Amino acid sequence: EKAGFDHFMLKEVHEQPKAYRDTMRGRISDDGRSVAMPELKMTAEQLKGINRVHIVACGTALHAGLVGKNVIESLVRIPVETDVASEYRYRSPIITPETLVIVVSQSGETADTLAALREAQRCGARVLAITNVVGSSVAREADDVIITLAGPEIAVASTKAYSSQLIAFFLFGAFWAQTLGTKSEAQVAQVLAAMEALPEQVEKILAQAELLKEVAESISHHSSLFFIGRGVDYAVAMEGSLKLKEISYIHSEAYAAGELKHGTLALIEEGTPVIALLSQEDLYEKMLSNIKETKARGADVLGILNEGHEAEISKSVDRYFAIPRTLPLLTPALSVIPLQLISYYASLALGHDVDKPRNLAKSVTVE
Ligand code: F6R
Repeated sequence: EKAGFDHFMLKEVHEQPKAYRDTMRGRISDDGRSVAMPELKMTAEQLKGINRVHIVACGTALHAGLVGKNVIESLVRIPVETDVASEYRYRSPIITPETLVIVVSQSGETADTLAALREAQRCGARVLAITNVVGSSVAREADDVIITLAGPEIAVASTKAYSSQLIAFFLFGAFWAQTLGTKSEAQVAQVLAAMEALPEQVEKILAQAELLKEVAESISHHSSLFFIGRGVDYAVAMEGSLKLKEISYIHSEAYAAGELKHGTLALIEEGTPVIALLSQEDLYEKMLSNIKETKARGADVLGILNEGHEAEISKSVDRYFAIPRTLPLLTPALSVIPLQLISYYASLALGHDVDKPRNLAKSVTVE
């Protein structure tokens, strides 16, 4: 049932091109110019009436939500807040009937996420769920549901569910922009074309998976490391850090790269591994100076960057891994893949049970 892979996690990592295609199928028009979301019950009028968005989720799903925030704010220009589900209800969030609350949950059964959904509805907001499980509690109770078609996810560490949630946000963001006209038809078509190229780009990354084994093995000898990035790369850094912690039990932190110098640089010593994400071209130079700050303290840096920068980056980092080029907003759907593979190989090198890590269940039904 693992289809020739050693673990469900590796199988699911490799299923991402299919998960992307399945999640996009039928939602992008044949001419590639528009998005249809027939599953949404909310009308165009209702969508036009929304003036703020709250994205609420836990763990990996929350990290997808952090990318979702960037996607919606950039395509639709409506303010989005992202909240940890276990915090949301207790801070008296400002929820009005013009608020759209988006809950994200692979299982659709996470207790805190479900409680947040109910609280949002009690306050009169419409709730849109992004979930992978048809018929789950979240799917049944939400006003609108976008199902990610990642297929069953068996490994405890979420991979294809997370990346399919990203696809769901891209689709919904494009749909909303198209409905409001905040982006022109040509701009929407550009996003959709870039999305349709993602599955093949993921395949290209997966074909180079073995290159990450050596980095993962070297990381496995360390007790702590950092993931750094800016913009959506920071959101992906958080997901990479969680993935590594949960299956390899190595401590790591994700940092907004510009924030390191406000104290945390003190923890970078000779040999400390740093994984730096540089997918945002407009922040590339800024990232290089942040990398320099870590190198000056002896960090061992792996750069994850867009194809085309390989020649010049070798002066600034110890190792690099290149990902194919896409729109800046869509890079998380590619850059997360090497991070998933690094955590997989690190866990493997340490002899841990990759698919069933300690202290974590596939769905968390306690608050
Ligand atoms: C990480 C992981 C957890 C879940 C979290 C939310 O790999 O699996 O962090 O993402 O427990 O679960 P769902 O998405 O089912 O609500």
